[in-house]
Amino acid sequence: MIKNCLFPVAGYGTRFLPATKAMPKEILPVVNKPLVQYGVEEAVAAGMHNIGFVTGRGKRAIEDHFDISYELEHQIQGSGKEDLLTSIRHLIENNQFSFTRQREMKGLGHAILTGRNLVGENPFGVVLADDLCVVDPGEDEVMTQMAKLYNQFRCSIVAIQEVPPEETNKYGVIAGECMKEGLYRITDMVEKPDPKDAPSNLAIIGRYILTPDIFDIIENTPPGKNGEVQITDALMTQARNGCVLAYKFKGKRFDCGSIDGFVEATNHVYENIYKKS
Ligand code: G1P
Repeated sequence: MIKNCLFPVAGYGTRFLPATKAMPKEILPVVNKPLVQYGVEEAVAAGMHNIGFVTGRGKRAIEDHFDISYELEHQIQGSGKEDLLTSIRHLIENNQFSFTRQREMKGLGHAILTGRNLVGENPFGVVLADDLCVVDPGEDEVMTQMAKLYNQFRCSIVAIQEVPPEETNKYGVIAGECMKEGLYRITDMVEKPDPKDAPSNLAIIGRYILTPDIFDIIENTPPGKNGEVQITDALMTQARNGCVLAYKFKGKRFDCGSIDGFVEATNHVYENIYKKS
């Protein structure tokens, strides 16, 4: 069982300025719940009860969100509004939250390495909260789908989806041998390639399961695309030395790092989840 999940949340969220001037982008609400809480609930549903955040300056609201607010609890006691806090209370009481700071923005690989002490030498999940994933009612959430695969194959796994060829420069892109429908053994992986250089249109989205040997590999991975230490490059080393799988997940992913994706996610959650709850 994988018990740990890392959330790299140090990014500035410049695309949402001025909304993110004084507030972390991960706290922006999708309907009535902060974006990051959707990701945490997904990890917890997969049995990952130790949640580690790699934060940065200006992200204290995330720590406060996953902590009790006695004043607020006291205020709303007996007002009939207690239910509004139920889901977050439940999360706080049944899971552990820890935090560490990434002092410099040196890329996703570096952010994950910064979280090493939070997860120890164990396999762990990584959720990029910007990617909000939803599944049909009754289906396993994406992290659960991946945890089940991990139990079978015991190696690092990335979630992928097909993207329009002209958008490969926004993602890590893989090439692989198809093992069975929707599952590939990675043979090549490039961070944000120009469409003409992309090995396919299978793009990595913000869900990973990583084996702990990735940490030493990251330490030895030189900066890549945009001068940043890329998890994609470290995973390519892991794939060369052993095996990394790419999994075409079942469900829908919204890119909440962009305004369009965020609005689409909001409409979807409002119509399909909020109104039906
Ligand atoms: C990161 C990864 C990239 C991946 C993407 C998924 O990029 O570096 O490989 O495809 O997340 O959301 P970012 O979007 O942080 O630039």
